[in-house]
Amino acid sequence: MTTTPPRASFDSPVQACLEGLLERFRPLRDGAVATYIPELAKADAEGFGIAIATVDGQVYEVGDSGVAFTIQSVSKPLAYGLALEERGAARVAQAVGVEPSGEAFNSISLEPGTGRPLNPMINAGAIAVASLIAGDGSDGGAGEGAAAGFERLRRTLSAYAGRELAVDEAVFASERDTGHRNRAIGHLLRNAGIIEGDPEPALDLYFRQCAVQVTCRDLALMAATLAGGGVHPVSGQRAVAAEVIPSVLSVMTTCGIYDFTGEWVYRVGLPAKSGVGGGVMAVLPGQLGIAVYSPRLDARGNSVRGVAVCAALSAELGLHFLRPPRVALATVRARYTLAEVHSRRRRPPAEAALLAEHGRAAQVLELQGDLRFATLEPVLREVAATAAGRECLLLDFKRVHQADAAATLLLARLIEACAERGEQVVLSRVKRGELLAGLGTEVSPRHARAYGFQAQLDLGIEACERALLSRHGGQHAPVALASLAEHRLCAGAGDDELRTLAAALERRSLSAGQVLMRRGEPSDALMLLMRGELSVVVPLPQGGTRRLATLSAGMALGESALLAGGRRSADVVADTEVEVLALSPAAFAMIQRERPALAIRLLHNLLAASAEAVERLTAEVAALEA
Ligand code: DON
Repeated sequence: MTTTPPRASFDSPVQACLEGLLERFRPLRDGAVATYIPELAKADAEGFGIAIATVDGQVYEVGDSGVAFTIQSVSKPLAYGLALEERGAARVAQAVGVEPSGEAFNSISLEPGTGRPLNPMINAGAIAVASLIAGDGSDGGAGEGAAAGFERLRRTLSAYAGRELAVDEAVFASERDTGHRNRAIGHLLRNAGIIEGDPEPALDLYFRQCAVQVTCRDLALMAATLAGGGVHPVSGQRAVAAEVIPSVLSVMTTCGIYDFTGEWVYRVGLPAKSGVGGGVMAVLPGQLGIAVYSPRLDARGNSVRGVAVCAALSAELGLHFLRPPRVALATVRARYTLAEVHSRRRRPPAEAALLAEHGRAAQVLELQGDLRFATLEPVLREVAATAAGRECLLLDFKRVHQADAAATLLLARLIEACAERGEQVVLSRVKRGELLAGLGTEVSPRHARAYGFQAQLDLGIEACERALLSRHGGQHAPVALASLAEHRLCAGAGDDELRTLAAALERRSLSAGQVLMRRGEPSDALMLLMRGELSVVVPLPQGGTRRLATLSAGMALGESALLAGGRRSADVVADTEVEVLALSPAAFAMIQRERPALAIRLLHNLLAASAEAVERLTAEVAALEA
C-alpha cells in the first residue's frame, strides 16, 4: 500500500512540473523489484515519488514522497564522507580508490597489486569504508567496534535528513542472512589486507547502513545538504565537513551509477547515487537536491523511473552541472562612503564638520553571497580601482554565507595591500567561528593591527569615523558644557531667559551603566545632556541590544515629554558619568505662560535639531538606495 503525505497546496510552477513528470512516467513499468534480498521483494512495485529540496530549504514533493523504504547504496557516499572526516583522506585512500570500475555494484573487483576496491560506490569499496567506520583496531583508529561506529553513521545520516532515522530490522536481518556474496567480498578484503581481522563487524555495519529507512523527501533533503556545503537546509545542523564534500561528490559523479555512470553524466549531468530499495538521489552543487523513489530496477540495479525522471527533470529545468549559471557579479550589494552615511553616534558640530570634509576617504562595501575566487575577484578589482585617497575600508559580511579558503587567502592579501597604503580595514558582522576562520593566521603579523572586527555595521562605521577623526586631528573626547548657554537648545536665549530656564530645570546625575529612561514608561521630562554620553538602545529578539543613537553633551532627548501622553520608545543608558537637566511638562507649561518668547525659542531650537536629523536621514536613505 502506498500513502500520499499531506503537502503544501500552493499554486507553484515547480510543483506543477513535478506533477507532470509523475503522470508522464507512471505508465513506465519496465524493470523489476529487487528480490535477491528476500525482504526487498515485498516493496510496492507501483510506489512512485519525486522530491526537490533547495539549499534554502524549500521542498517540492509529489506522489509517494513520504513512503519509507531502505536507503541501500544511497548511503555509500555519505558513509564515505564520514570515513574521510574520521580517518582522514590518506588513511581512507589506503583502503579504497576513486577510479570508476565500469562494473556492476556487486562486482568482485579489487585493484591488482594493492588489493584495494576501485571505488567506494561498489559494494567492495563500501565494505572497506564500513570497516574504517567500525574501526578494525589496526591503526589506533575508532576501534571501539561496529555498534558505536554504526551509531555515529546513523546519527550522520539523520543529520543529513534532518530527522532521526532508524533501521528496518527485517531488511537488515534478511540481507545479513542472505548476503553471501558480500560476505565473500569481506573475506577477499581480509585476504588482501584491506580489512584486518574478522570482516563480520564491517559487514554487520554495512548491512545495517543499507537497511536505514528513508523517504524520498529525506533523500532530497540529504542531497540538498550536500548541495549546500554540508549544512541541512532546514535544521541548520552540519551533517558533514564542507572540506570533504568535493571528494564525496567526485565519486558520485564518476562511480555513483555503476556501469551506467558515463551515460548518466552525459544525459543527466548530476552527481548521483542509486539504491536497490528504489531510491535515487542527485545533487546540483550550490543549488538543490533531487530524489526519486520507484522500486522497479533495471538490470544494473538502478530505478527505471528514477533514471527516466532525473533525465527529464535535468533537461526540463536545465540542471546539467556543466551548464552552471554565470557567476553573479553582484557580490557588492551596497556601496557608499562616510560622506553619505553616518554611524548612530550623533556628532557635535566640530566633529560633524570634520567628517563631512573627510568622509569620502572611508568606503563601505556591503557584500553578499558565497565568497570564492570568482565572486570575490570583482570586489578586489573595485577596491583597487577606488584606492586613491582612501584611508579606511569597511567590508560588511552580514549577507555572506560562506567564504572558502581561497577567498580567505585573497582577503588576507587585500588587508595587507591596504595596510601597505596606510589604510585601516574594518570587517563587520563576520559570523565568528564560521567565516574567515583562517584570516588571523593568513595576515602577516606585521599587518595584524591594520584590521579589526565589529559585531554590528553601525559600530564598524563608527570605527571608521574614529579612524578618520584621529587622522585629521579631531580626537573624540566626551565633553562637559560649562554652562546652560552652551547647550544648543538655548541658542539665541538672553541671560534673563537662561536664568528662568535654569530655575525650571532639575539636575539628574548618573554613573556609567545606569538607566535614564525605560521603554514604555510615561515621558516625564525633556532632557538636556550637559555632561557625558548616553546611548538609546532597543532589545533584539535574539538577545542583546541594538543602539539607535549615542548622544553627547549639548544634545537633547525625550522630546515626547512635551506631547500629551508621550511614552518612552527605547531605553536610554549612560555610557559614562552623565549629567542631564530635566524639563518637566509642568515646568514647560509655566514657561509657556510666563515667558512665551522663551518657550517659542526652545521649540524653535528643538525643531531645528529635528529638521537637521530628518535631512541627514533622508540623504542617507537616498544614498543607500542609489
Ligand atoms: O550490497 C547490497 O546488496 C545492498 N544492500 C546494497 C546494494 C545497492 O543498493 C546497489 N545499488 N543499486
